[in-house]
Amino acid sequence: MLTISPTGLWTITPPSLFMKLRAVTGMNDILPEESRAYQRLEQRFRTLVETYGFRELRTPIVEELGLFHKSTGETSEVVQKQMFMLAKEGESLALRPEGTPSAARVYIGNKVHAREPVTKWYYIGPMFRAERPQRGRYRQFHQAGCELYGDAGPIGDAELIDMVYRLATDLGLRDVGVRLNTLGGSEARFEYRKRLIAYFTPLSDQLSEHAQARLSDNPLRILDSKDPRDQQASEGAPVLLDCLTDADRAHWQGLLAALDRLKTPYEIDPRLVRGLDYYTRTCFEVVTQSGNIGSQTAILGGGRYDDMLASLGGPATPAIGFAMGIERVLLALGEHKASEPPLVFFAPLGSAATLASLELAAELRAQGLWVELDGRGNSLKSMLRRADGMGARFCVVMGEQEAEQGTAQLKDLIAHEQRVLPQSELVHAIVSAPPSTSTGTSPAQTSGRPA
Ligand code: HAM
Repeated sequence: MLTISPTGLWTITPPSLFMKLRAVTGMNDILPEESRAYQRLEQRFRTLVETYGFRELRTPIVEELGLFHKSTGETSEVVQKQMFMLAKEGESLALRPEGTPSAARVYIGNKVHAREPVTKWYYIGPMFRAERPQRGRYRQFHQAGCELYGDAGPIGDAELIDMVYRLATDLGLRDVGVRLNTLGGSEARFEYRKRLIAYFTPLSDQLSEHAQARLSDNPLRILDSKDPRDQQASEGAPVLLDCLTDADRAHWQGLLAALDRLKTPYEIDPRLVRGLDYYTRTCFEVVTQSGNIGSQTAILGGGRYDDMLASLGGPATPAIGFAMGIERVLLALGEHKASEPPLVFFAPLGSAATLASLELAAELRAQGLWVELDGRGNSLKSMLRRADGMGARFCVVMGEQEAEQGTAQLKDLIAHEQRVLPQSELVHAIVSAPPSTSTGTSPAQTSGRPA
């Protein structure tokens, strides 16, 4: 910024001095007291999907823009309106809006099909979509997703859908519903598209402007429009189930029979079309009434995309997958904040006591316990206040005299008890202490940080 000083001299002030320091709209910091909830959710996701044989894939958050045009699709809203693009010396790059195209790129590039007939990958990480932020809809958000390659279904579809239902209910979400539909193969969709255009064209002046624009490029999206005009016009629209080929129908019926056998509840929703261009046959979303996730009730969405890998130049490989929105699940669970107190707090007085405490704290940490040591040389009163404020269960107080005698004072801050014991017994005393009545867990069961 250019300013003129009182003496009339021109000076250039770095703009950062005037900048308001804040995160980009729709992109949120995850503070330490919030990240525990993310870790817990991610861990439960990993634990469950690994029992089905999914293994973690990590890919860069930046990809070539063309990858998303070719896979997510030119007619999808994500590509048309929501890409964060980066231009760098002749390269057209983009922040990934979803994980499926990157995983497909890795699968093709590494010729994975030649090594394994069936491949199961999962990923967890940030995604970016330039949307208008609102509750449950952000410009940077996190997804945990799975992709399964080489299994044309329908058993693979049923297992995956059953897995996501279990995931949602195990996470503690209430009133979990699976919405299910089939989009048929390319032949059925070609026929269906024709029938939809024939149906909507005479009604086009009753449609929203957005739907009118979709009529020629992607008329299926009119069916899931939230605009009441489009919803009314869609009421008598042809259904895709009527256009299925025999093979599509056999796949669909096989899926329903397998879900019935697994007792996975589902609701068939012929209006469910999903917003990305690559889906074929099975598509699904998981919704919940838990918590308040704003108008976004889908916490997870996915489907089959049997044509994508070949269209990217890879081998013709059937594929199916899903992604769960981590922020939406946390909002639904009401678990955005989940800080945990340290288990043991050391309050040493004087240098000999501090050095002895250092050693004991290291021993306790080696047992996996979360230990906080106040080595700032503060008064006992202020250290005890800090231990209390942090919610520690134990406080180890050691003065010069205890340090000399090889003892320590162990305070149970929850039970309001205290005793003096030899330092050599301290670690054992803490590790084998009975559960506190407030947490119900013993130190041996918890590190002070839940898994
Ligand atoms: P999607 O439906 O676009 O599918 O996103 C999946 C989930 O990510 C949504 O159900 C939602 O929970 C979350 N999500 C999407 N956009 C946002 C946002 N702006 N803010 C917060 N959460 C959001 C996909 O991304 C596909 N890649 C899923 C898939 C994998 N299909 C096959 N394999």
